[in-house]
Amino acid sequence: MPQGRALRERSHELLAVKPGEVVLDVGCGTGHAVAELASLGARPIGVDVSLSFAREWFPACDFREGKAESLPVDSSTVDCYRAQRLYHLLAEPEKALAEARRVLVPSGRIILIGQEYDLWALDSDDPDLTRSLMRAHAQRMSTPRGALKYRALLLDNGFTDVHVEVQTAVHTDYAAVAPLVSQIAAGADGWLAEQASRGSRGRFLAVLPMFLVVGVRAGGQE
Ligand SMILES: C[S@@+](CC[C@H](N)C(=O)[O-])C[C@H]1O[C@@H](n2cnc3c(N)ncnc32)[C@H](O)[C@@H]1O
Repeated sequence: MPQGRALRERSHELLAVKPGEVVLDVGCGTGHAVAELASLGARPIGVDVSLSFAREWFPACDFREGKAESLPVDSSTVDCYRAQRLYHLLAEPEKALAEARRVLVPSGRIILIGQEYDLWALDSDDPDLTRSLMRAHAQRMSTPRGALKYRALLLDNGFTDVHVEVQTAVHTDYAAVAPLVSQIAAGADGWLAEQASRGSRGRFLAVLPMFLVVGVRAGGQE
């Protein structure tokens, strides 16, 4: 996603990461957040089911192959836990949060970052079709409307002091998001042609809210 770096930086601020702290990035993908956290003086660990890009791009960083639901990390050793654009993919997010509680120290911090797909908005001549395309895309995810659920998920699974922030990405450059738009509206050729035409005329507008939901591990040692 464009504007990704600013979003990651804001997530590090919300977690109040301090030098020397162990920060787990679950579903770390390409490893960019892990590399950035290392440059802040933290001790990041990236976990993902697939690490080929991360290990190639950031060979000096600590990456571990594993799943959010069974983390390859000892209990009570992690100060901060982050997961960006992961929880919408999980069929059982509660299992991943139980693992987050296991690895976090008492009062450890957590942040979940993700989209609310059903809130994406694009300007078009057919708003009803646009809405139904966005909704169909949201429903293809394992947990549709993922990010709206983050607050309740944290409160219901042993986290407290939960705070929600929403950053809204505004895109007017069609080329930058065309692959994503084509994926969402695959098969809707007329609608896609209108969006491409808007792009060529400088009339494209997409608004993508991104949720950052931060909390604190409640309770003592388990
Ligand atoms: C959409 S990408 C997000 C990557 C990165 N966090 C970002 O925001 O750019 C989702 C990542 O989660 C990983 N993933 C999917 N299911 C997972 C699971 N159960 N446990 C750990 N990682 C998982 C995928 O391999 C992928 O790298």
